[in-house]
Amino acid sequence: MSLAPSPSSTMKAPRGKIPLPIITTLICVIAFIALLYTERLNFLSSNSILKVKSCSRRDAFKKSNDRIEDNDESLIDDRFDFDPEECNVANGKWVFNSSLEPLYTDRSCTYLDRQVSCVKNGRPDTNYRHWEWQPEDCTLPSFSPELALKKLRGKRLLFVGDSLQRGQWQSFVCLVESIIPEDQKSMKSGRSHSVFKAKEYNATIEFYWAPFLVESNTDLKIIADPKKRILKVDSVAKHAKNWMGVDILVFNTYVWWMSGLKIKSLWGSFANGEEGYEELEASVAYRIGLKTWANWVDSTVNPNKTRVFFTTMSPTHQRSADWNHKGGIKCFNDTKPVTKKGHWGTGSDKQIMKVVADVVERMKVPVSVINVTQISEYRVDAHTSVYTETGGKLLTDEQKADPLHHADCIHWCLPGVPDTWNQILLANL
Ligand SMILES: *[C@@H]1O[C@H](CO)[C@@H](O)[C@H](O)[C@H]1NC(C)=O
Ligand SMILES: *[C@@H]1O[C@H](CO)[C@@H](O)[C@H](O)[C@H]1NC(C)=O
Ligand SMILES: *[C@@H]1O[C@H](CO)[C@@H](O)[C@H](O)[C@H]1NC(C)=O
Ligand SMILES: *[C@@H]1O[C@H](CO)[C@@H](O)[C@H](O)[C@H]1NC(C)=O
Ligand SMILES: *[C@@H]1O[C@H](CO)[C@@H](O)[C@H](O)[C@H]1NC(C)=O
Repeated sequence: MSLAPSPSSTMKAPRGKIPLPIITTLICVIAFIALLYTERLNFLSSNSILKVKSCSRRDAFKKSNDRIEDNDESLIDDRFDFDPEECNVANGKWVFNSSLEPLYTDRSCTYLDRQVSCVKNGRPDTNYRHWEWQPEDCTLPSFSPELALKKLRGKRLLFVGDSLQRGQWQSFVCLVESIIPEDQKSMKSGRSHSVFKAKEYNATIEFYWAPFLVESNTDLKIIADPKKRILKVDSVAKHAKNWMGVDILVFNTYVWWMSGLKIKSLWGSFANGEEGYEELEASVAYRIGLKTWANWVDSTVNPNKTRVFFTTMSPTHQRSADWNHKGGIKCFNDTKPVTKKGHWGTGSDKQIMKVVADVVERMKVPVSVINVTQISEYRVDAHTSVYTETGGKLLTDEQKADPLHHADCIHWCLPGVPDTWNQILLANL
């Protein structure tokens, strides 16, 4: 029952005039909730870098940090023709290379959730693992686990956000873990906070679950009915106290705001508890929520000590008509990326993107945007589709035969697209 929302019900519905039969809508909503409920959502977001910001942040970070940073900088500059200030990584194309092998598989890396272990779950085609992102103006260095661990030495890297962010976190862990001996690594999984530790590097790679970043009544005990969800759009302290003292913070939030309903929003001036909410358009509530996050960062984070990243929205691919796949069923059976340059589907909300750009631009603490949206938009072939689980169980053959209701075109197979997000993240560290 891990239906993903139909695009009409979640992304683009012109509210108030949905001509769909109520039942359909209801099913979609329930499906969406079910999907979100599987708490193992491995969303990561898209990867593109906001050049202006990454520059100042990077410099500030480098200055304040130890000799390793300096070494690494020269290492990067010498070996790779990559400069986040000069190169727009989002402008490029996916190139197929059959001899390109991912650094891990869903069998070799034991830290992957079943939800994203597509090959293990029976996905028959494997071409989706052999595409390489090539920016037009520069060479994106391939992900080096050695370099990554060196940069993380003595540091904490924390991913904060939803299940797509969890996917990026698991991807990062799997990209580096194979070079660490068994007795030198550990994983502590918690409901909201999980910590992978690389002992000899004294480094941690962590994930903190906060699907809206701000507080809501559906953070831990997830409320199935989105109509009953209420967001405290001006409160972030309860989550943020777990983000203190971290060296590298990577945030995301998007898909949970996209239920297609107005967001029931609470903030300080309402005294009468959960009764006092106001219903706001998603983009309006998102702006308030993101500003709350931004205020916390600006007032709490010392940019000389901590780097902050924001991963942009991870595209959903629920409407095969978006990429002219006639007779297609969502992303089911798609085995090739979209080649049309600049392809942008209905699963990526431009208003939300604008809010991110606006808010980040006005922040005091520099935030590097990992702009993964455009890059990932092309990858209709890389979602978990029917090779996933729901409610802790693999899809049955019956469910697999009904992709309209069961294909997950939100989450990504691992290894897969989030590895490229981390490639960009590492290149900017
Ligand atoms: C394909 O990938 C392999 C392994 O990473 C690499 O050595 C080779 O240069 C790549 N080929 C092309 C055409 O990029
Ligand atoms: C290990 O890293 C933490 C920060 O993550 C630091 O506080 C601690 O001093 C480090 N320990 C050693 C032995 O370097
Ligand atoms: C960061 O470093 C700069 C230059 O060293 C210094 O002027 C500034 O006060 C520092 N900021 C904080 C918050 O410590
Ligand atoms: C999906 O792909 C398989 C294998 O190529 C094919 O047999 C099947 O007919 C396709 N199903 C749909 C609905 O396109
Ligand atoms: C991300 O990239 C897209 C195009 O690739 C652009 O339209 C958007 O403004 C960028 N977002 C941010 C927050 O920089």
